[in-house]
Amino acid sequence: MKKFDFDILINRKGTDSLKWGLYKSNDITPHWVADMDFRSPPAIIDALHQRVEHGIFGYSLPPVELKEVIIKRMDELYGWKIEHDWIVWLPGLVTGLNAACRAIGEKNDDVLTTVPIYPPFLSAPKNSGKNLVTIPMTDNGIYWEIDFDRLEKAISLKTKLFLLCNPHNPVGRVFKKEELTKLAEICDRHGIFICSDEIHCELVLDKDLKHIPTATLDNEIAHRTITLMAPSKTFNIPGIGASFAIISNRKIRKSFKQVIDGIVPHVSFFGFTSMLSAFRDCEDWHIELLEYLRKNRDIIENALKNFPGVSMHHVEATYLSWINTLNSGIKDPASFFEEAGVGLFDGKFFKGPGYVRMNFACPKSMLEESLEKMRLALENRL
Ligand SMILES: Cc1ncc(COP(=O)(O)O)c(C=O)c1O
Repeated sequence: MKKFDFDILINRKGTDSLKWGLYKSNDITPHWVADMDFRSPPAIIDALHQRVEHGIFGYSLPPVELKEVIIKRMDELYGWKIEHDWIVWLPGLVTGLNAACRAIGEKNDDVLTTVPIYPPFLSAPKNSGKNLVTIPMTDNGIYWEIDFDRLEKAISLKTKLFLLCNPHNPVGRVFKKEELTKLAEICDRHGIFICSDEIHCELVLDKDLKHIPTATLDNEIAHRTITLMAPSKTFNIPGIGASFAIISNRKIRKSFKQVIDGIVPHVSFFGFTSMLSAFRDCEDWHIELLEYLRKNRDIIENALKNFPGVSMHHVEATYLSWINTLNSGIKDPASFFEEAGVGLFDGKFFKGPGYVRMNFACPKSMLEESLEKMRLALENRL
């Protein structure tokens, strides 16, 4: 028996939603930014209600239990034994990416990442006075992979940091142990630190795949890694602002904290309240969410098999599909689909021109309607 109803259509228009506020026309259904059109778990909503009812919104401390809950979660999910002091609270992961770029290396050092990639990976190095060096990933026809030869060739004496996204936004990969080990070995050999953005780690859709935190590969790589995590994507609370870094290397942790100190705001008690509830009280919701997302993923993958000139690879994790329109002859795919009534994220912002990213974390009926609009638009132009 299901406890939660992910089929309900909730009107988000007029709620100051970034996703729904972008389009002035009511005829465009947004599938661009990565938040879900589902209500957050009831346990989180209850916890926030209680906090609001108390009525005093003073300065707050993280709940005493919270670090213990995170430590236990890392151990249970990944066999990762972390310590209290390693956890650094952050209001957002983009803050974490920018802080990592500032904390490591000197001005004008190189920061590497692979493309396509979530856009803040491209802006964080520049924001921090570093050079961005991008390495195209390879589409092997079945899935996307890191081109390790190109990666090695792009490394210089100035390369100090690699920004990794795992699971990967936008290509939906869960990197395998061999891939992560190879990456770690290269970084180790060249003295490069890794900032590993693992915000999508609890959204692995394939039952035979498992997320591996980069820092769990071995002690040496743990020493070189800043891990970024949050409950925000998994439990649909990204607007609340609650995340954290895990940094075992004391020196790097100190630099990271120095960078954010006095500039980055503390996590609010709404953030802490929802993070605690998410990690402690919402596993039943999480399990049903994954089942629902898996079905939506299958719907979109099956639908696209019959779309002329358009394709995508299997999504192993996340609720995002990376759609290839290069063989369609469409010059501006984001505008093309927008005209058809579907708002997608233009791949050019990910350094992936010719692609669009579609968020499928919405009620099935909404997804099917948008896919039908896309299919008709593609067929009508033939
Ligand atoms: C890989 C990745 N990192 C970070 C973020 C955003 O993090 P935050 O909203 O906590 O800054 C997203 C949001 O889509 C993401 O996909």
